[in-house]
Amino acid sequence: MERMIGVMGGSGVYEIDGLENATWQKIETPWGDPSDEILTGTLDGVKMAFLPRHGRGHIHSPTTVPYRANIDALKRLGVTDLLSVSACGSFREEMAPGDFVIVDQFIDRTFAREKSFFGTGCVAHVSVAHPVCERLSGLAYEAARATGVTVHKGGTYLAMEGPQFSSIAESKMYRAWGCDVIGMTNMPEAKLAREAEICYASVAMITDFDSWHPEHGAVDINAIIATLGANSDNAKSLVAAMPQLLTSAYTSCSHGCDRALDYAIMTAPD
Ligand code: ADE
Repeated sequence: MERMIGVMGGSGVYEIDGLENATWQKIETPWGDPSDEILTGTLDGVKMAFLPRHGRGHIHSPTTVPYRANIDALKRLGVTDLLSVSACGSFREEMAPGDFVIVDQFIDRTFAREKSFFGTGCVAHVSVAHPVCERLSGLAYEAARATGVTVHKGGTYLAMEGPQFSSIAESKMYRAWGCDVIGMTNMPEAKLAREAEICYASVAMITDFDSWHPEHGAVDINAIIATLGANSDNAKSLVAAMPQLLTSAYTSCSHGCDRALDYAIMTAPD
């Protein structure tokens, strides 16, 4: 099957450099409108689709991002491999602002979002024990290494509802739980990608130490934007390196993401 790379761009990443035949496409879905039109084109001969998660002009908050429409629109375009790029805070001294983390686990503390394509009428239970695609995450790690940025392989991401940042007590609790980073957008995105049988990997770009660190003050959105700006070239180079890494031919995902719905649907057909 021909692979197509999707990029869900977070704050600070609003385009793909060097995309050929770049066209913004409006995609309709039964779940409503996605965050924005989707930029499609090819890079090194590989089809690409870029969706700004918050919309151009940053019009969707983490709670109002239309996660189901976004994943469905990418699926309709033919995306097989979805790279999420997003900002995050760090709970670890050794994971510093400017570093990238290839996330491999999540704790989902969001509560005001639709989290499944399934419900009344058709019930399905997919596994998210391994919530990211190990194969695609490995490629993202290689791509990050190639940019020269400090990158951490694996990390547990606490997904919070927001839009406010955490209190010091919450921040200390998440640290005690063993979380490595915190952000507001990777859930339910990763769960929905699994339900859509799309391979998903998350590149979390550290912008701050959240609020636990005694030597750093409260999270400041202006400092976050400055760190993201300084890092956007690394993020763009990482994305640009993905097509060449993906080109090795294979027909199905070795991690099984493209078969996630096998045996998951409980409801008998009419
Ligand atoms: N995004 C960037 N930094 C964050 C933080 N500290 N908490 C939640 N989301 C973030």
